[in-house]
Amino acid sequence: PLCSDLPSREVLFDFHGVPMIHSFSANWEKIQNFQARPDDILIATYPKAGTTWVSYILDLLYFGKTSPERQTSIPLYERVPFLEITISSTDSGVDLAERLTTSPRLIKTHLPVQLVPKSFWEQNCKMIYVARNAKDNMVSYFHMDRMTLFHPDPGDWSSYFKRFLEGNSMLLFGSWYDHVNSWWKKKQTHDKIHYIIYHILFLEKLCCFLGLSSSLEERKQITGGVQFDNMKKNNMVNYSTLQVMDFKVSQFMRKGKVGDWKNHFTVAQNEEFDENYKQKMKNSTLQFRYEV
Ligand code: A3P
Repeated sequence: PLCSDLPSREVLFDFHGVPMIHSFSANWEKIQNFQARPDDILIATYPKAGTTWVSYILDLLYFGKTSPERQTSIPLYERVPFLEITISSTDSGVDLAERLTTSPRLIKTHLPVQLVPKSFWEQNCKMIYVARNAKDNMVSYFHMDRMTLFHPDPGDWSSYFKRFLEGNSMLLFGSWYDHVNSWWKKKQTHDKIHYIIYHILFLEKLCCFLGLSSSLEERKQITGGVQFDNMKKNNMVNYSTLQVMDFKVSQFMRKGKVGDWKNHFTVAQNEEFDENYKQKMKNSTLQFRYEV
């Protein structure tokens, strides 16, 4: 690309109470007016919670057998459009979603629950929410912000750590605590939300929620295909074909582990985190695993 086409780091601003950047809000009217169909499936996450992993699982469940060529020719980010993204010189997420000819349409979003376009609720669409323990989520998001050229500059680790803990208005898409808790709360009264914790996947339960029957053989095949090492070397799912990420800075498929936070948190940070976490999560029944 020309130099002028290279993305530059964007600045956060308040958008309906959520820290946002232009690339995820520029198309807001079209996003809010997006016409969902009853069989659309929304995959919702706080960034870096395992969106790609679950997107790939769903894509394999629905299209793995019927259109194997899709797996080798179309990058996952086109098969599962990212609803709110608009980066100049590529198509917007809404455009990509509207152009999908296969059904169900699988659509990804990082929007907090209160900003999800209303037609997903009106159409009673199934939604899959993936949550990941806050410590690993933070580390993964830090590296993502470093490598994604249009994301706000993450600064150094210790300042990132502080901003994550403050929670209120410091990171793109807002506070991890608000995100996972408000989706969790919504799930209690809305039976179309399936809430998954990163790395604890029960494929049978997922199929049951989706109303899909799958053989043991099929489930085994999918479990193999979506293993971290296999996804890491699969160019159709590892984002290596995207220009907006600098893979010299970090990898998209970085480690894929529970517990990598231990390589980043100092002892003091861990204590500060745990204290803060207890406060922030005191009214939540959500439970995470911080190590395997
Ligand atoms: P790490 O940075 O900790 O490695 P998202 O898809 O929401 O952006 O999340 C990306 C995170 O999920 C990355 O975490 C990535 O490595 C991890 N991930 C992707 N595919 C995975 C898989 N098949 N198994 C485990 N982790 C996976």
